[in-house]
Amino acid sequence: MAAPTLEAIRYSRGKLQLLDQLKLPTETVFMDVPDCDVCWTAIKDMNVRGAPAIAIAAALALAVELDGAKATLATAGDVCAFVATKMDHLNTSRPTAVNLGEAVERIKKLAASLDGSGADAVEAVIAECEGMLAADIANNRAIGSFGADALCAAVGKPAGAPIRVLTHCNTGSLATAGFGTALGVVRALRETDRLEHIYCNETRPYNQGARLTAYEIAFEKMPGTLICDSAAAALMAKGKVDAVVVGADRVADNGDTANKIGTYNLAVSAAYHDVPFFVAAPISTLDPSTAKGADIVIEDRPATEITHSLGKRVAAEGIDVWNPSFDVTPAALIAGIITEKGVVRKTASGDFAVGKFVAEVT
Ligand code: MRU
Repeated sequence: MAAPTLEAIRYSRGKLQLLDQLKLPTETVFMDVPDCDVCWTAIKDMNVRGAPAIAIAAALALAVELDGAKATLATAGDVCAFVATKMDHLNTSRPTAVNLGEAVERIKKLAASLDGSGADAVEAVIAECEGMLAADIANNRAIGSFGADALCAAVGKPAGAPIRVLTHCNTGSLATAGFGTALGVVRALRETDRLEHIYCNETRPYNQGARLTAYEIAFEKMPGTLICDSAAAALMAKGKVDAVVVGADRVADNGDTANKIGTYNLAVSAAYHDVPFFVAAPISTLDPSTAKGADIVIEDRPATEITHSLGKRVAAEGIDVWNPSFDVTPAALIAGIITEKGVVRKTASGDFAVGKFVAEVT
C-alpha cells in the first residue's frame, strides 16, 4: 500500500490554503490565500516554494479570486482582461522557475480564446486551474516510475536490488501538488522495495533539505539521513551513494539545468566519483525556448538568508553577501532528464535536444 503523503496546497471551490513552509518543521500552519496579491507575497517570501507548487498556487489563487469576482465580469472579454492582469502580476514574483510562466501563458491563452458570457468564461478558466492539481500528481507518479527504473538501470546492481540515493533541496509533496519529482522517484523506489537509503543535503541557506525534505522522510519513516551540503563529496568517496537525483526549476533546450544552489557542486562531485546524476522534472519545467543555461535568469535572494539564522545574526557585520537562489548544472554532467513521458537522453552530439523531445511526446 502507498505510504501517506503530506499536502502543501488545500483547495476547494472559492477557498485556497497553503501550508506555511516558513514555519516547518516545528509548526503546521495553513495560511488563507484569498487573492492573487496574497499569493504573490506568499511566493516571493517562500511560504510556498518549489517550481510546480508555485505555479499551481498561482493558478488556484486566480481561480479563487475569479470565483469571488464573477458577478462583476459580464463578458468573456472582461474575464480575459482580469486574467491577464492578475497572471502577469503573479509572474513577476520569482523569475527562475519556468512552471509559473508556462501556467501564466497557458491560462491567458485559454482566456483569450473564449467568447460569450462572463459566467461561462469564468467556469472554463477555473476548471483549467483546478485541473492542475490532479495532473501534477499523475505526472509525478509517472516521473517516479520512469525514474526508479532509470536510476536502478544506471547503477548496474542486479535487478530489484535496493539502491542508495542522494538528493538536494526539497522536491517532494511540499514542492508539488503531491508525491514529488526527485523525491517522487525516491518514493517510487521505496514502494517497489528498491530503496536502501535516502540521503538529503541540508541545502543552505534556506535549508529546504533540513527543514522540508528531512520532514517528509521522517513523516514517512523512510530510511534516511540528513547531511551538510559540504559532506556530499565525502559520502560519495566512501562509496555510499549509488545515484543522485535532483529536481529542476528550468531545463534549457540543450539540457543545462537550473536548480537550487549547490546542485552544480553535487553534479561535479558525482562525475568525479562516477555516480550517475539525474534530473527529475515535469515537461512544464522544460524550456526549449531557452537555448542554454547561461540564458536562464537566476534569482538573487536577500543577504539576510545567509547573514542570519532564525532571526539571529550569524555573519560578521559589514560583510558583502552573494546569495543566488539557483545554479546551472551543465548538460554534460547529467545522465538523463526524467519526465512523465519518459527519460530524455543525450543525443549523439552530446546535448539533450529538449525541444525535439517535447515536440515528440506532446
Ligand atoms: O527556492 P525553492 O525552494 O523554490 O527551490 C526549489 C528547487 O530548486 C527545487 O529543486 C525545484 O523547484 C523543483 S521542486 C519539484
